[in-house]
Amino acid sequence: SESGYLSIVVLGASGDLAKKKTFPALFHLFLQGFLKPGEVRIFGYARSNLSDDGLRERIRGYLKGASDEHLSQFLQLIKYVSGSYDSGEGFGLLNNAISKYETSKNNESGSYRRLFYLALPPSVYPSVCKMIKSYCMNPSSHTGWTRVIVEKPFGKDLDSAEELSAELGQLFTEEQLYRIDHYLGKELVQNLLVLRFANRLFLPLWNRDNIANVQIVFKEDFGTDGRGGYFDQYGIIRDIIQNHLLQVFCLVAMEKPVSLKPEHIRDEKVKVLQSVEPIKHEEVVIGQYDGYKDDPTVPNDSNTPTYASLVLRVHNERWEGVPFILKAGKALNSRKAEIRVQFKDAPGDIFRCKKQGRNEFVIRLQPSEAMYMKLTVKKPGLEMATEQSELDLSYGMRYQDVKIPEAYERLILDTIRGDQQHFVRRDELRAAWEIFTPLLHDIDAGKLKSVSYEPGTRGPQQADELSKRMGYLQTHGYIWVPPTLS
Ligand code: BG6
Repeated sequence: SESGYLSIVVLGASGDLAKKKTFPALFHLFLQGFLKPGEVRIFGYARSNLSDDGLRERIRGYLKGASDEHLSQFLQLIKYVSGSYDSGEGFGLLNNAISKYETSKNNESGSYRRLFYLALPPSVYPSVCKMIKSYCMNPSSHTGWTRVIVEKPFGKDLDSAEELSAELGQLFTEEQLYRIDHYLGKELVQNLLVLRFANRLFLPLWNRDNIANVQIVFKEDFGTDGRGGYFDQYGIIRDIIQNHLLQVFCLVAMEKPVSLKPEHIRDEKVKVLQSVEPIKHEEVVIGQYDGYKDDPTVPNDSNTPTYASLVLRVHNERWEGVPFILKAGKALNSRKAEIRVQFKDAPGDIFRCKKQGRNEFVIRLQPSEAMYMKLTVKKPGLEMATEQSELDLSYGMRYQDVKIPEAYERLILDTIRGDQQHFVRRDELRAAWEIFTPLLHDIDAGKLKSVSYEPGTRGPQQADELSKRMGYLQTHGYIWVPPTLS
């Protein structure tokens, strides 16, 4: 079923996500030979009344890194169909447009592959999915496929998410639905499984006997920039922590899967999520940056957090007692995402008075992808002094000729290939909402208040205090600088 004519439909084609992420990802797949003219056609669908060229002009500026010739070849693959998100008329036209190409081109296999990418707000998912189901399914019942990619937010809490899942579940099977979390498409996130389970070095160390605490951190150095209206409905926990950071957490904390089969991996993710204990209020700090409410679409009394630091505790044999600190914030002093695994002190340490810090294994997801292990070494020279240094695997140095693919690019290719490993399964989504829903309801009810912080800083100092209380030891005077090619 992996061959045959491929139709890719981008719904919400004139929106932000489509322009900034979906079309550029498709373009890169095209440039690498994964979308071959003659076998594939891309359809943009939206309400605006546009011509094919109108859509092409709108997205052209976002497609970078290729010759004009390649660019125009790609743009020629794109057709535009306009219609509303709940009318049979529009989706009937869309189906006609798709069928016309499927049947006119040399489609020897007689097989049709239809991929629908919903670059739309979730409020229209149910109606759009109903329309796809009624008008646009792969016409052959025995070859090819129909697959639908949906993007978070999948609901606002457990009940609304379950309702959405049930609605979509009536229309499509789990095999047809691809719930994207683009963090799962990042190179170093995909590396976690290999790192943890293919290296003897880590196997015996990855547990409560050796690890003191784990931090999973997301920082952005800009605010909600024009997205205040959307953001205020959700807040940083729903925007980043409940999905992106929690997915990373799963891969750091889960047990070894039975095999690499997507179902086996996702089974382990669900298990570790189900072992997470209820979040305690005293292990949460939420913040809002000064100036957030200047956005006219944000209410003046908003308590919505733009920063949160909270502790997850896993009740199992491996992790009992090890705090996992998940931190995310907007309008901070830098932009980066990383995992920090801090090891316990060496027992019976004879360097006690000289030692500068603990072993810490850092996986830098972005920017400057890297892994480095902080070590104490003898300071080179005549004196017997120690200092903190690192074993450093910086991708920019080690893999100079490799271009690291964009997350969306990889995930769309996975969808075409039918690999669901890096997509969120329905029960996994449920387990994720179970963890955060009580806390989110308490925040929405004002039982926890966002403290304010200055934009461009590390965020509320209460968060640093929380990390300290959780046993995180900062190494003062040591900063890792990503190495650069000279
Ligand atoms: C999105 C969030 O899911 O992820 C945004 O809605 C955030 O608020 C973005 O900016 C971050 O993605 P990345 O890949 O730039 O880390």
